[in-house]
Amino acid sequence: MQFDLWSKGLARLEVECVAAGVFDEPKLAPEARTLDSAAGGRLAALVKRGDFSGRAGETLLVTDVHGIAAGRVLLVGLGPQKSYGQRAWRRACANAIAALARTRIASAALGLERPAASELGDYDFGRATAQIAGGTLYRINDLKTGKKPPAPRLRRLVVGPVRPAGEAAARRGLDHGDAAALAMSVQRDLANLPANVCTPSYLAERARAIGRKYASVRVQVLDESAIKRQKMGCFLAVTRGSAEPPRFIVLDHRGGKAGSAPIVLVGKGITFDTGGISIKPAAAMDEMKFDMSGAAAVLAAITFAAEVRLPLRVIGLVAACENMPGGRAVKPGDIVTSAAGKTVEILNTDAEGRLILCDALEYSRRFAPAAVIDMATLTGACVIALGAHFSGVMGNDDALVRELVEAGERTDDRAWQLPLTEDYAEQLKSNFADFANIGGREGGAITAAAFLAKFTEGLRWAHLDIAGTAYQGGAQKGSTGRPTPLITDFLAHRAGIRAE
Ligand code: BES
Ligand code: MN
Ligand code: ZN
Repeated sequence: MQFDLWSKGLARLEVECVAAGVFDEPKLAPEARTLDSAAGGRLAALVKRGDFSGRAGETLLVTDVHGIAAGRVLLVGLGPQKSYGQRAWRRACANAIAALARTRIASAALGLERPAASELGDYDFGRATAQIAGGTLYRINDLKTGKKPPAPRLRRLVVGPVRPAGEAAARRGLDHGDAAALAMSVQRDLANLPANVCTPSYLAERARAIGRKYASVRVQVLDESAIKRQKMGCFLAVTRGSAEPPRFIVLDHRGGKAGSAPIVLVGKGITFDTGGISIKPAAAMDEMKFDMSGAAAVLAAITFAAEVRLPLRVIGLVAACENMPGGRAVKPGDIVTSAAGKTVEILNTDAEGRLILCDALEYSRRFAPAAVIDMATLTGACVIALGAHFSGVMGNDDALVRELVEAGERTDDRAWQLPLTEDYAEQLKSNFADFANIGGREGGAITAAAFLAKFTEGLRWAHLDIAGTAYQGGAQKGSTGRPTPLITDFLAHRAGIRAE
């Protein structure tokens, strides 16, 4: 997509269509009023007649509009003016682009009412617009054999209004949003693939392809014997039951000053989670192909960093394997030794995410990172606690957690902090090993994080539980691309290249 900015003169822009907002009173928003006066009152008359209500979700393409260079106006419902803010704007923006994508229109201008600058400054406005455009135009990578509907023709979006003083920031935002949308499609495509295609080796091959595409990225893949040499006893325990070989993937985006401390991102890459011997019930088990969403988000974040040449070293670590039952599978009560040297009693083989992550977290120490953030579809308990709206975030560094929460607010990819206090660690007591891998039903999202916390002493660490947010079930089943908006915005801010 080609993005340009406009600052005034919406009616004179040389595009095929102009999108403008209507509040649900109904009442033309200011930009729509400008168009209306150029068009001799046509839009106001249409609204007055009751042909457009301005409700959120509603759109109407008005053709043969005279007095406007574009000749077409897309009216977009903004909902109630009283509660209009960045979330309503985001919805309207997505609706506008979806409506444009259903037409043969190739170039359009967006003139929706902007939310207050305090809510969405020029960088965030550009970033959100490009990300929403990319996200809305994403088409699922299904394996259907029938004829695909034709691709939308939309190629150019002129975005505004942005005053000249805000142009540089908005452009940078558009650039980052475009890269974030690409990154989200990387995550979604990987997560949507079935587990018989998207195996640990496949993930490693996709990582290698990222290394080939971008000069800034080096990729290293550890096979089972290399994983054994790293003494990743917990990771090896999880992969035992599977015929599919495990992979430990290291991606290194070399940006920023040489020798500066990197951000390490760690992803849970369970390409299929049956639960193992503690096997899951059959209902919706297919959705456990999404259990590598954290790993996919790591590949996505590295793609983003490389695409915008982020001046920051970002290292991605992915522990990838299947969690399967079988004659060689790990059994409840088995005790294994983690890479950190601590022993773990595996009381439930379905609590496997924390087992592969604890060895990956240990591996992160060699990079002396500024911060380590893991992303994992870790617990059903987090889905119960927060639903699909917020990811859970916990950590041992409140400033880092706050940075992540704020990045989530800026990108509408929200996360909510859960209280990771010492109390929860007590639930992990074992009679036979340093600790158990489960802590009972109570506070399950937090006891999972408390387990990880045992391996992150001395690191600045945060954990994103994305079990409820990374994918949807039901009729719209598929990857959402979350938490890629959040994590890419976090990285952009850490790199300090925001221009406002
Ligand atoms: N991958 C699951 C978590 C999950 C559940 C993600 C539902 C998305 C939707 C994880 O490996 C798991 O099975 N966790 C168990 C932990 C329990 C055994 C302590 C869970 O949440 O039930
Ligand atoms: Mn599991
Ligand atoms: Zn899992």
